[in-house]
Amino acid sequence: MLRIANLDVVALSTPGADAISAALAFCGLTGSTSDGVAFSVMVLGAVTCCYTFGVFRLAHRRGVTARDLRRIAAFLGGSAIVLAAMGPPLVAYGEQLFSMHMIQHMMLIIAAAPLIAWSRPKVMFLRALPKETRANIGRSARRLRLDRFMRPLRDPILVWIAFCAGFVFWHTPGPYALAMRYESLGLLEHITFLLTSLAFWMVIFRSSMRGGPGYGAKLLFVLTAAALTDLPGALMVFAPRPLYPEHAAGVAGWGLTLMQDQEIAGLVMWIPGGLAYLLVAAWLFVAWLREAENRAVLPGARSIANVTLLLLVAPALTGCNRSRAEPIANFNGDPERGATLIQKYGCGGCHDIPNINDAEGNVGPPLSRIGNRIYIAGMLRNTPDNMLLWIREPQRIVPGNAMPQMNIPEQDARDIVAYLYTLN
Ligand code: HEC
Repeated sequence: MLRIANLDVVALSTPGADAISAALAFCGLTGSTSDGVAFSVMVLGAVTCCYTFGVFRLAHRRGVTARDLRRIAAFLGGSAIVLAAMGPPLVAYGEQLFSMHMIQHMMLIIAAAPLIAWSRPKVMFLRALPKETRANIGRSARRLRLDRFMRPLRDPILVWIAFCAGFVFWHTPGPYALAMRYESLGLLEHITFLLTSLAFWMVIFRSSMRGGPGYGAKLLFVLTAAALTDLPGALMVFAPRPLYPEHAAGVAGWGLTLMQDQEIAGLVMWIPGGLAYLLVAAWLFVAWLREAENRAVLPGARSIANVTLLLLVAPALTGCNRSRAEPIANFNGDPERGATLIQKYGCGGCHDIPNINDAEGNVGPPLSRIGNRIYIAGMLRNTPDNMLLWIREPQRIVPGNAMPQMNIPEQDARDIVAYLYTLN
């Protein structure tokens, strides 16, 4: 492994200086590696510009937050890792050493995919498009009933099966040998990893408020996938004989034996892979506990606590009472249906509402982070029940304000409130 460090893994280690020389080499069309690297850097730059533009368009009213910047960094980092893993220097080493090839796989699955999935590329790229184009895409998607085809991509069980099956399949010696022999199959192998792991991490990052599974289900999802995808790694470490003979010539050049290379590969899959899943599982577990703790507070006890607090501290301090920022327990509403209803009732004609198509109105206040607002319309304490009241009867609360009474049925209003509380 040490020898890897001695080799000049040129352009990707110092992107600044080398990108320029690579770009120059690209213009002069010399050296296939620098061509490839320069091309990758240009693609990465262009894609990141589009993404960043989308983020800024989405943020233009509420202002760019630290989270937006983190998303841009995650997208840039994730895409750079994809290019590095599938780019010239690593591909060449991956053909020689099985362990290098496993490093490429791990880069795609546990580094690039979660970063890209967390950065919500679909939303940002759609936002980067002109408004009419976006509306046209929305219309065509509805006409073609694309959601019917997209739904399996969100189904945790199907995603789990695809992720584990793809992983195990391409690591069994037969298919692996084919992927090594035919370049197109090798590409297919890596694209399979990238797409299935993107879907995998999207399930983990989709909040249960937006129709994702709960924390317990996510924990099971990660731990079972971790156990299954560790199997090939264990096999590599403990196999009594070399399983991937196609690297025979490659390992000789590095002074290794096939067995040593295979054991290193197994450890690469086990240690960083296992650690990544374990960290995610720990994070999910903590979030789950926190959620359970919030749920366990009896509503009666909570209101007694609130009343006590109200009596003890000056009314000015009630804004610090965080109870409204918790997930809305004891409030029955479906945020996903709410998002559809917000479109149906045309709230977006007057409000800028995150993640709702064409909701860019500027008559009322923007509803980004309304879940964390202290007051509704500057006068009602922001609680789910007050929000329900406001949406159904804004004129009763602030007579003469510009928000119309829309005679929204109670359940519809509840679903809308559930969606609004996901914005925080
Ligand atoms: C015709 C324009 C219009 C439409 C349509 C409209 N609103 Fe409003 N909305 C307003 C205005 C204006 C205010 C500010 C009222 C005030 O502060 O007195 C407001 C305030 C609000 C607030 C409180 C915001 C805050 O910052 O305190 C919420 C929540 C809200 N609207 C939700 C909705 C929802 C949900 C819909 C669709 C069902 C909707 N609105 C439709 C104009 C509209």
